Amino acid sequence: MKILLNEAEIGLGIDRLAGQLKAHYHDQPLTIVSIMTGSLVMLADLIRRLEMPVRISLIQASSYRGGTKSGELIIQDHMMLDIKDRDVLLIDDIFDTGKTLVQVTKRLKEMGPKSIKTAVFLNKLGQSTVTAVPDFVVFEIPNEFVVGYGLDYEDLYRNLPYVGVLEESDLKNHVAT
Ligand code: IMP
Ligand code: MG
Repeated sequence: MKILLNEAEIGLGIDRLAGQLKAHYHDQPLTIVSIMTGSLVMLADLIRRLEMPVRISLIQASSYRGGTKSGELIIQDHMMLDIKDRDVLLIDDIFDTGKTLVQVTKRLKEMGPKSIKTAVFLNKLGQSTVTAVPDFVVFEIPNEFVVGYGLDYEDLYRNLPYVGVLEESDLKNHVAT
């Protein structure tokens, strides 16, 4: 698999994001809402670099019904903490068309947070179909299908410590589970 971002580069990227959040929120309490399942790896790495009081909330959004084609978005928010009057940071693994982040942001706004910002691990360039952009981006990447560091193909590869481009030759070894 072609490696796009190695473990060391990813670590520096998350350090950089933590620094930006520190500069923005200072010591204010922050509620991080992590979109499952892709952003869990980023969440675990990011929160251990933050020093303000942090609450963690999970929300699930899935648009990829298997394979690499985008389908209808289903949001499940039954695991959400109360975010009324809270400063909220919504995180996701990748900003592709942007639909997921826009629709989840809309759902969270209905819950009455004091503020809401968005951070993504990857921003896929040239793919966005929405006018909104994430407030914080760790890495910009070209329009290729990537896996690892939380990102999956058919629910596999999330555990890779690096980000790789999934190529035809990799799919020959792909075992659907
Ligand atoms: P969007 O709604 O089109 O922005 O898509 C965001 C979601 O699509 C992410 O949460 C990912 O689950 C998935 N996705 C988009 N591009 C990729 C990719 O290159 N690899 C793995 N998942 C992706
Ligand atoms: Mg996802």
